[in-house]
Amino acid sequence: MPRPDTLPAWQQLMAHREVVGAGRVPSSHWTPGEPGWLQVAAGPLHADLSRHRIDPRGLELLVELAEQAGVRTRLARMLRGDIVNPTEGRAALHTALRGEGPLQVDGGDLRAGIDTGIAAQARMAEAIRSGEWRLASGEAVRHVVNLGIGGSDLGPALALEALAAQADGPACHCVADLDARALHAVLAACDPAATLFVVCSKTFGTLETLANAGRARAWLRVAGLPEAQLHRHFAGVTAAPDRAAQWGVPAAQCLHFGEWVGGRYSLWSAVSLVLQVACGPQVLQGLHAGARAIDTHFAEAPAHANLPLLMGLLGVWYRNFMGAQTHAVLPYAAPLRQLPAYLQQLEMESLGKSVDLDGNAVDWDTGGVIFGAAGSHAQHAFMQLLHQGTLLLPSDIILFDDTTADEPALNANALAQAQVLAEGGRVAAAPGEHGVLPGGQPVSLIQAATLDAETLGALLACYEHKVFTQACVWHINPFDQWGVELGKQVARELQR
Ligand code: F6P
Repeated sequence: MPRPDTLPAWQQLMAHREVVGAGRVPSSHWTPGEPGWLQVAAGPLHADLSRHRIDPRGLELLVELAEQAGVRTRLARMLRGDIVNPTEGRAALHTALRGEGPLQVDGGDLRAGIDTGIAAQARMAEAIRSGEWRLASGEAVRHVVNLGIGGSDLGPALALEALAAQADGPACHCVADLDARALHAVLAACDPAATLFVVCSKTFGTLETLANAGRARAWLRVAGLPEAQLHRHFAGVTAAPDRAAQWGVPAAQCLHFGEWVGGRYSLWSAVSLVLQVACGPQVLQGLHAGARAIDTHFAEAPAHANLPLLMGLLGVWYRNFMGAQTHAVLPYAAPLRQLPAYLQQLEMESLGKSVDLDGNAVDWDTGGVIFGAAGSHAQHAFMQLLHQGTLLLPSDIILFDDTTADEPALNANALAQAQVLAEGGRVAAAPGEHGVLPGGQPVSLIQAATLDAETLGALLACYEHKVFTQACVWHINPFDQWGVELGKQVARELQR
């Protein structure tokens, strides 16, 4: 595939941005399509994309850009297990983990291995939930602490909090930070005799996770649990089972996943063990079903009604043609407050690249800054900058219909923010120009009936395919993260 700035649609979009007006301009200076012109249904999600600084011609050109950049061809390559991560020589098959049906890769059926892994995870989760898993002193598990970081923490931590209403198993926690105080704050509420640690690490070589696992072992020793039985307090989740065994996790207590699952896409693998322990098998099935619905939607829906594709193309539009550097994610749902952190890894680790797939330096912008917070908090912290600052700052506002029954003001606030960001207005009490909100800020309203496992799965899959779309257009590899390695190396040298 060629570099994006040589594609005809890219050049036409360059000219077209003059029609719409780049940068932050007041809402009165641009003409969207008809009100309500861009409404998209995707699995359990509905998106209202009518508050965007794009007109029908601009949208046509973006769709042409996706075609010219080969998004569909590349998706087909990813789904069938081709090497789409060339710098690590790996496929990226997270979609297979939540998929169905046979999948032949390199002459073998991947599905059989995936199903075996799912069954092993279900057995382990059930043994923990039912009390069959006995710890060193013969007690059943009442607390589970997932020790992982990055993709081995953010997905489980987000899902545990988002779906806490469905939890009926042992109390589950996640600890990631290298600072020992994070672990000890959680352990203060745990009984050593009844606590199981899940050491969750794709590589089983990550400093933070191994440091916490070592501290956990020391905590159990200090509690006087018998040394020869301490291994009963550890389960492993990894793509490097030999390293887990070397560390001291018995093979029978270790779940595996393939190298072809990227860390930030690993919630779909055995990394979800802690969620399954907390909430049971149906929650995991719901999560996968929601994501699978979006995988099908992304592969089959026409471009104008394809939510992840449109999210990706709008991201390209604002980043490359309108001068935006950031994107805000604002869930009006307290249980989703960790979503921005999850998406920061997904988007910024995937798209923070300045060399293209051919090994050449890019001279077009790639990934921007993702930030956000639960909407209620955002309104009282940083929304001022979106309303009256000078930056063009697109945002996603996420809301759920059923929150209205408990607290009607929550969704009223979500809708009010969308309206005021896009249309602007005036605060009568403020003197002169200080009361003017220019509007013109692009907003996607993403809505579902309720926050459950299925909608969470659908939401996360939408963002994954959004990232994939952007990576295709930008001609970069979204599946490696070489940039994070040097800092680790320098830290090791500084410690010597
Ligand atoms: O350092 C970044 C990173 O490699 C992420 O990509 C990954 O999710 C995280 O570290 C944790 O890695 P692991 O699961 O191997 O411990």
